[in-house]
Amino acid sequence: MKETEISNRPLKILMVDDDEDYLVLIKRKLHRISDVQFDIQWAMEYNDALRDMQHNLHDVYLIDYGLGERTGLDLLREALLKGCDRPLIIITGQGDRRVDMEAMRAGAADYLVKGSFDGNTLERCIRYAIEHKRSEERERALAAATAAAEVEREKSAELARSNAELEQFAYIASHDLQEPLRNISSFVQLLARRYQGRLDSDADEFIQFAVDGVARMEEMIKGILAYSRVETHGKDFKAVGCADVLQKTLKNLALSIEESQAEILSNPLPVVRGDEAQLIQLFQNLIGNALKFRREESPRVNITVRSRAAAKGHTAKDGSSEVWLFSIEDNGIGIERNYCEQIFSMFRRLHSPEVYSGTGIGLAICRKIVERHNGEIWVESTRGEGATFYFTLPPSEAATSTT
Ligand SMILES: Nc1ncnc2c1ncn2[C@@H]1O[C@H](COP(=O)(O)OP(=O)(O)O)[C@@H](O)[C@H]1O
Ligand SMILES: [Mg+2]
Repeated sequence: MKETEISNRPLKILMVDDDEDYLVLIKRKLHRISDVQFDIQWAMEYNDALRDMQHNLHDVYLIDYGLGERTGLDLLREALLKGCDRPLIIITGQGDRRVDMEAMRAGAADYLVKGSFDGNTLERCIRYAIEHKRSEERERALAAATAAAEVEREKSAELARSNAELEQFAYIASHDLQEPLRNISSFVQLLARRYQGRLDSDADEFIQFAVDGVARMEEMIKGILAYSRVETHGKDFKAVGCADVLQKTLKNLALSIEESQAEILSNPLPVVRGDEAQLIQLFQNLIGNALKFRREESPRVNITVRSRAAAKGHTAKDGSSEVWLFSIEDNGIGIERNYCEQIFSMFRRLHSPEVYSGTGIGLAICRKIVERHNGEIWVESTRGEGATFYFTLPPSEAATSTT
C-alpha cells in the first residue's frame, strides 16, 4: 500500500508560490509549532512544481492561487491528471473568495485564505489533509482487496460447480453404461461357451476378440467410476500415518512383490492429514506401476520423504506453508520426457495392454487424489533409466477436509 510514512520524519512540504516573502512567512508560522517538524521546499515556476508533483516527491503541496500566467487551479488539475496522489492545499488571496469552491471541486484537499490563518491552523489543515488521504488510500486498498477476494470466490465456486457436474456426469455415465455392457458381456460369453469350436476358427477368434473387448470396456468403466468416486466418496481428512498406509499397500501388493522379487525401501514416513483409503490407493497405484513397468532385473523401489515449502497457491487452509514431499523411485523402463505430463490423463498409456496390463486410469486417479489433498504430483524420468514420481501432502496439523 502506498502510504506516506509521516510519523518518524519531518513532513516534506512543497510551497508553490512566486512570492518568496510569503514562503518566509509560512516557514515562520510553521516553525513556531514545536511538536511537528517540517521540511519546507519552494518552487517558484509552474513547471518545476509540476515535475515534483507528478512524481509525488512531497507529503503535501501548498499552492498559491496566483501563479503569474496560470493559476494554482491549473497546476492542481494538471498535477492530478499526471498522477499526483498527494494532498493539495490551495492558498487564495483575500480577493479570490470564489476560488475556494472551485478548488474543492477540482480535487483540492483544502483551501486557506491568505492572512486569515495562523501556524496552528495551517499545521492542522496539513495534518488533516494527509490523514484524510491516507484513510482514502486505505479504503481504496481494502475495496480492491475485497473485490479481488470476491472474484476469487466466484471463480472457485464456478470451478466447484463445473467439477461437481463433471463428476456427476462420469458417475451416471459409468453407472448407466454398465447395464447394457453387462448384457453384451453375458451374451458374448454365452456365444463363446456354446459355439466355441463349433464354427470355423475365424469365428472362434472373433468371439474371443469380442470377449476381450467387453472385458476391457468393463475395466475402463470401472476406472471412470473409481475416478468420479475420488470426489463423491471421499472421506473427511484426519491424521494418517503413512507408515501404516505403506504397510497396507504392501500387503495388497504382496503377490506381485513376491512374483517380481521386488525390493522396497522406505525412509521413516510422516503423519499426514488426509483420507486413508485414498492414500492407500495412491501408494498402491504408484508402487504397482513401479513393479509393473520393470526391466529384466528385479524391481527396486525407494520411497523417501522430505519437508518442503508449499508451492504458491498450495498452502494449507490454516496457512501452514510446509508440506511433505514424497518420492517413489524405481529402476524400471522409465518414461520419455515428452510423455511425463500426458500419462496423468485418463486412459493415457504408452503401451498396449498385451505388453503391460492396465487401462491407464491409475495415474489420473492418483492426480485426483493428490489434488483433493491440496497437493501436486509429477514425474521425472529418462527413458530406460527408471522413473521417480513425486507428490506433496499436507502435514497432519494442517487443514480439515477440503470437500
Ligand atoms: N513407474 C513407471 N515407469 C514407467 N512408466 C510408467 C510408470 N508409471 C506409469 N507409467 C506409464 O504411464 C502410463 C499410465 O499409468 P497408469 O495411469 O497407472 O495406467 P496403467 O498402469 O493402467 O497403465 C502407463 O501405461 C505407463 O506407460
Ligand atoms: Mg497403473
